[in-house]
Amino acid sequence: MSVVPHAGNGKITVPDILSRKSLPLSAFPEKQRKIAILTAYDYPTARLLDEAGVDILLVGDSLGMVVLGYDSTLPVTLEDMIHHTRAVRRGTRHALVVADMPYGSFHVSLEESVRNAVRLVKEGGAEAVKVEGGERRIELIARLVEAEIPVMGHVGLTPQSVNALGGFQVQGKTIDAARQVERDARAVEAAGAFAVVLESMPRELAARITEKLRIPTIGIGAGPDCDGQVLVFHDLVGYATEHKPKFVRQYANLSAEISRAVASYCEDVRSGRFPSDAESYHSAAELRERIPARERS
Ligand code: KIV
Repeated sequence: MSVVPHAGNGKITVPDILSRKSLPLSAFPEKQRKIAILTAYDYPTARLLDEAGVDILLVGDSLGMVVLGYDSTLPVTLEDMIHHTRAVRRGTRHALVVADMPYGSFHVSLEESVRNAVRLVKEGGAEAVKVEGGERRIELIARLVEAEIPVMGHVGLTPQSVNALGGFQVQGKTIDAARQVERDARAVEAAGAFAVVLESMPRELAARITEKLRIPTIGIGAGPDCDGQVLVFHDLVGYATEHKPKFVRQYANLSAEISRAVASYCEDVRSGRFPSDAESYHSAAELRERIPARERS
């Protein structure tokens, strides 16, 4: 469990996350200020990550690519997000649960967007929502905050813009592009977001934005100077992800472990080694005498 300052019952709240940036360094035990975030899409993973001390569990719309098998995040629906957020929330006691607003859920009208965010909170149990986009989202973020829904921004590479961007490329590499990313981050802060994800951009740009903003920055492919880091859980543990981006540090190789375990299981079933007698139930002694072995189940 995290040992940084937080609400009495160990539950991490939005003010706790904000305080990671606003409180002086001396308020934190050594090396406990940075915010550790991972994605989670289901109950058992949420339980494990929560118990291991992750600060924020992000029910990212990356679930579309990671666990639903789509080739982008665009097909993910609000119903998908509510379903998975509910499961994550059931497995979480300490971490803050943030749910992504999926593509299409905040693009039609402000009114519909607020209604959709409210559903993520009321039906999914999200404690905050994440919205992709910078300057274009000022009004939306302000409306959500007014509706008591804490918002995490997301600028730089925004995967929901994959068609407009022409792919998943590093952002902010020219002076003009870097200025735009910085304007986006500042806009998100000014609109009332409590934190902002900086995705796929030069380390120097992320460091500059982190220095300028009063809210925490959360990096992914944005270097070590951000106030926190987020990774997709499946990338971290090497679980069925095909492409490993440069910024991913893989701490385990679950794919190899799972393949090995499943191959052994198949072999044991086919050879009759599984199940063993010790893994079987037995009839009571008096029944055993009355039922021939062949008829016993
Ligand atoms: O959808 C997601 O998982 C994300 C993070 C990778 C930032 O947006």
